[in-house]
Amino acid sequence: MSQVIIPVAAFDLVIFGGTGDLALRKLLPALFRRDAAGQIPAPARIIGLALNQQTTAEYRDQVADALQSHLDANELQAGMLERFLARLEYRVTNVGDIASFQALATLLDEHPERVRVYYLAVAPALFDPISHGLAAAGLAGNNARLVVEKPLGHDYASAARLNAQIGEVFDEHAIYRIDHYLGKETVQNLMALRFANALFEPIWNAQCIDHVQITAAESLGVGTRGGYYDNAGAIRDMVQNHLLQLLCLIAIEPPYRFEADAVRDEKLKVLRSLRPISGHKVRDYTVRGQYSGTSTTPSYTDEVGNPASLTESYVALKVEIDSWRWSGVPFYLRTGKRLKAQAAEIAVVFKKPSHVMFGELHTPILPNVLSMRLQPDEGLRLHIMTKEPGPGGFRLHDIPLDMAFAERQDAGWRMPDAGCLRTLGDGCGARSSNPVHARR
Ligand code: BG6
Repeated sequence: MSQVIIPVAAFDLVIFGGTGDLALRKLLPALFRRDAAGQIPAPARIIGLALNQQTTAEYRDQVADALQSHLDANELQAGMLERFLARLEYRVTNVGDIASFQALATLLDEHPERVRVYYLAVAPALFDPISHGLAAAGLAGNNARLVVEKPLGHDYASAARLNAQIGEVFDEHAIYRIDHYLGKETVQNLMALRFANALFEPIWNAQCIDHVQITAAESLGVGTRGGYYDNAGAIRDMVQNHLLQLLCLIAIEPPYRFEADAVRDEKLKVLRSLRPISGHKVRDYTVRGQYSGTSTTPSYTDEVGNPASLTESYVALKVEIDSWRWSGVPFYLRTGKRLKAQAAEIAVVFKKPSHVMFGELHTPILPNVLSMRLQPDEGLRLHIMTKEPGPGGFRLHDIPLDMAFAERQDAGWRMPDAGCLRTLGDGCGARSSNPVHARR
């Protein structure tokens, strides 16, 4: 198996918040890897913007340090690093000042024909001034793309407001809402599993499936992100985005074609079919928790520096989908920080055989489980009952058929961090469409 590089025209990628945590820890290492893989055309530029008073040379040093901290030493071959750093420009930028946007326009107008991608690695409160600043400086034309990440508001009204603000400047097709889970190879593989195999579709329904479990467990705590996390909590940080995207990929009807709007439309049907959890059901269908400290790890409240915080670092939900296919099949979603293990996994638990003909068994017949391990130990495992060989009566055992993707490394398979797979332009990949817009 070989990697296929799809050539793209030279572009300018502008990172608002170019010295921030997201840019230095995730975006720039991801871009470095894409560059090393030959996916970034030679003349493309990456332009970091922030308030810090520094020159392009100083920014390059700062990025070099960040790459050294966040990439493996063997990835940082000297020639590659120099080539990447040479792409970088830096401009001191105050998003409240039109002069900053005019200065950016001067730089970008050196190549007026290029696609300009504006990546907003900043707080959502800045989305509006940045979008309108770009428009005022004539930088929001047909070749402009806007990239935003969660949190997009804290409730429906604030999300709709944010979408309306950026929508005043950019057409919907030019707005990319990134959900990095969709960049994970194993998440993209869910589409292949369901729709490139004839095996599963006939049994992918309430007749054959008992329930589905979607788990994203993290062993680390909130770390240095307490300020953000304490306002978000596990529901806004993980459930409304990553876990619901996973649920959609498990639950959607086959899209008529593998393209952005077709996939988005099917996901939207699933989201609209979710049964609201309200009233007494909140208590019956949800669990929220917060981690406490141990002798070696701080408690949640210590870590975020807010002793009175009631923000959840763990949540579990029972979710139901009111549709022909899924009626009566619960989906259990759970996620949390500082849990025992680091594991993201989807388990589809099938119903047991309707009749057991084996009479007295020493071990019970267990349900078949298809478990899709998203990370780590990426792979698929199908638990099936088999006869244990040898004398001693008819004995059954649950043995997994195991397909570990790591074993395919000799064939060139790699399971990189999703950060280095973030893509622009493929709606079925890392881009997540806007249900608010689709509702209009
Ligand atoms: C992010 C959340 O979106 O996803 C983090 O903000 C979380 O809190 C992270 O740790 C998990 O993603 P990954 O790819 O590291 O498993």
